[in-house]
Amino acid sequence: MENNINDHLQEKYNKLGQDLDTHLEGLLHSKPINYWDYIHTDTLLNLQIPRTDLPDEMVFIMYHQVNELLFKMILHEIEQVAKAESVDATMFITKVMRISRYFDMLTSSFTIMKDGMDIEQYNKFRKTLTPASGFQSAQYRKIEFASTELINLIDNRFRETIDRNTTYEHAFEHLYWQAAGKDYRTGKKSYTLTIFEEKYKDEFIRFTEFYNTHNLWTKFKALPKDVKENKDLIDAMRHYDYTVNIKWVMAHYNTANHYLNIGGKTAEATGGSEWVKYMHPKYQRRIFFPDLWTEKELQEWGTDV
Ligand code: HEM
Repeated sequence: MENNINDHLQEKYNKLGQDLDTHLEGLLHSKPINYWDYIHTDTLLNLQIPRTDLPDEMVFIMYHQVNELLFKMILHEIEQVAKAESVDATMFITKVMRISRYFDMLTSSFTIMKDGMDIEQYNKFRKTLTPASGFQSAQYRKIEFASTELINLIDNRFRETIDRNTTYEHAFEHLYWQAAGKDYRTGKKSYTLTIFEEKYKDEFIRFTEFYNTHNLWTKFKALPKDVKENKDLIDAMRHYDYTVNIKWVMAHYNTANHYLNIGGKTAEATGGSEWVKYMHPKYQRRIFFPDLWTEKELQEWGTDV
């Protein structure tokens, strides 16, 4: 065994044109690893910088950071399916279910956010972060691009009529979330949307170039017939679609209602959208895997929540 490791090490460093003994000596002097250096806890715990002295702003910042970390885990998982040369039902199910579990966490934990902060404090500190909005989460958009084809992210009002072979630029302008940042009468974009695009549009274009043909939905459709008909796989895909596009969306909507609908009066959101209508799944109708739902289920999407 010992010899074997030595041989493997020798082979590895030979290939790199490096001297094994020097590396072994380096190992002799290097410090043993510990938890805090490995996890970078000091860095992580220094990333919470409130803009006010209101204690609940810390809850707000940290909960968003937890979400962004989970978004990263989800993207990491999708990427493995997207880049796998061949995907069988077991791998697909394992990955989709793991992604769903992350989203289950995001959904159930939203109650922490919903009942977690003092409404009065929230309505004070949120004014200091206007016009920033969770709407500007690039990872959330990437999860959508990586999950389905662009056509399923087009604003429901244009989905039927838009040319499926349209340019990316044209499709981009008709993505469902443009509605949150655009005055449709004048076409003028809000500042929140404008700077979001300035920062991320090029990155989104690069990202979608790959995911247009490697997203979960396209990958699923390319599976052999018997795999595509695997009931466990279909259940896993439906679970993911429902968790992201109904359960998470509703948990988010209920939270917005809790903080922004005070005494029956709707407050303006930091990102300035007409959020009551925009955020509800029955209007948004974002569905990643439409063929996996019956006509009736599609028609009733988001109406029974
Ligand atoms: C007190 C908690 C929250 C409230 C009141 C809230 C409210 C809102 C509102 C009103 C919008 C619509 C856009 C706008 O006009 O700003 C929005 C969008 C968004 N928020 Fe939140 N949000 C909260 C927490 C979160 C958290 C924890 C996340 C996780 C990162 C998040 C992610 C998003 C995303 C991704 C969008 C865009 C959704 C879409 O386009 O359908 N939000 N939020």
